[in-house]
Amino acid sequence: KVGKEENLRSPICCIMGHVDTGKTKLLDCIRGTNVQEGEAGGITQQIGATYFPSENIRERTKELKADAKLKVPGLLVIDTPGHESFTNLRSRGSGLCDIAILVVDIMHGLEPQTIESLNLLKMRNTEFIVALNKVDRLYGWKTCRDSPIVKAMKQQSKDVRDEFNTRLARIITQFKEQGLNTESYYKNKAMGETYSIVPTSAISGEGIPDLLLLLVQWTQKTMVGKLRYSDEVQCTVLEVKVVEGHGTTIDVVLVNGVLHEGDQIVVCGMQRAIVTTIRALLTPHPMKELRVKGTYLHHKEIKAAMGIKISAQGLENAIAGTMLYVVKPGDVGVEDYIKAAEEDKNSVMGRIDKSGEGVCAHASTLGSLEALLEFLKTPKVNIPVSGINIGPVHKKDVMKAGVMLEKKHEYATILAFDVKVDPEARELADELGVKVFTADIIYHLFDQFNGYMDSIKE
Ligand code: GTP
Ligand code: MG
Ligand code: NA
Repeated sequence: KVGKEENLRSPICCIMGHVDTGKTKLLDCIRGTNVQEGEAGGITQQIGATYFPSENIRERTKELKADAKLKVPGLLVIDTPGHESFTNLRSRGSGLCDIAILVVDIMHGLEPQTIESLNLLKMRNTEFIVALNKVDRLYGWKTCRDSPIVKAMKQQSKDVRDEFNTRLARIITQFKEQGLNTESYYKNKAMGETYSIVPTSAISGEGIPDLLLLLVQWTQKTMVGKLRYSDEVQCTVLEVKVVEGHGTTIDVVLVNGVLHEGDQIVVCGMQRAIVTTIRALLTPHPMKELRVKGTYLHHKEIKAAMGIKISAQGLENAIAGTMLYVVKPGDVGVEDYIKAAEEDKNSVMGRIDKSGEGVCAHASTLGSLEALLEFLKTPKVNIPVSGINIGPVHKKDVMKAGVMLEKKHEYATILAFDVKVDPEARELADELGVKVFTADIIYHLFDQFNGYMDSIKE
């Protein structure tokens, strides 16, 4: 029934904005989950994906408009980190999406990563809707749980409405300074020229129905061509992860087309392109986050758009952010795919200091490794890296880092982000004098390394 008549795929919506504006919390509010509170330091350090079936969107928007026509099968939402180190993941997310939600904290207005996100969206000509979040923090706000925003606003005292209008006007001015016209969505008569602002609360749910309905209506009204389902597979690798019982898996976003169990695929690898066969096609349950460990649904085939975990042999060195290609039966050869897969590999590898002098950087996923490398490269941090690895720290990694003992003693260091250190590796490190710093928040590694450098200087 849904999406059949025009055969549309689900739109992909990326959620972007400055750190702590409430991006993950907004998704939690829609999903009925609690992902945000499970994050280390309450900050998002990975890109995620959640599928919202149209049935759920209808349920959530029926008070606002009971007879809304939903032509798309659902909505695939990509969560991104707001922390400044994660430009790579914001860029990856915004590169995948049909539309974006730019989240702004009503108490803070536009912040540095709001502007960075805006520029990414402008660069790609991506439509977006502004979620003006945390309206419940206006002094004296009266909770109207999950209510459409106009209705909630009517319940507020004059003082609350005045404060809201003052802050809204200020933020509209800030957008104007960035060269953009914005207006609260219920007053916006020229959507497409003027960007819409939807006031929301991720805590009490006001404005969420409006945000969801606007997203779906706007995409199916203006992007029918782009959303038309096609057999041509378009698929991007988000993350590379070890999952118990499945070995190394890749999290992908299938933008268009269909994937089957048993499909032969080509993925970009650290050394060479990886040619393998899909062993299992897994998704989290609808309304659950792909990046959070949970139970997975097995599928024989999956149609776009969807966030999918693929299990297959030989994915250990796959590179996040690259394309996944499907070799069609009867295709002449895989060579063309291999060539294509290798083209954008150098961008990641180029980040490693070639001088051979530097610390070793470890991270749990390639996406987070990229972010760690990006962070270590920033001028105020400026720590050179000579080796990289993904996954737990083993003895062989300590040996590798130990090479630096002779060259530059302080670089005989492993910075381990969000990974475990094998006890034997720890023992060997103590024996050799290799320092291993671990943290589940990127910038804590800098603090530790800095403290160590200072202690050496003394
Ligand atoms: P990063 O992913 O780290 O960039 O942050 P984020 O944008 O995902 O924000 P997150 O969901 O982590 O929320 C940050 C903090 O703001 C948390 O303490 C939330 O509980 C709080 N918060 C988020 N949305 C709201 C809201 O609508 N109202 C109030 N009062 N607090 C909120
Ligand atoms: Mg977040
Ligand atoms: Na946060």
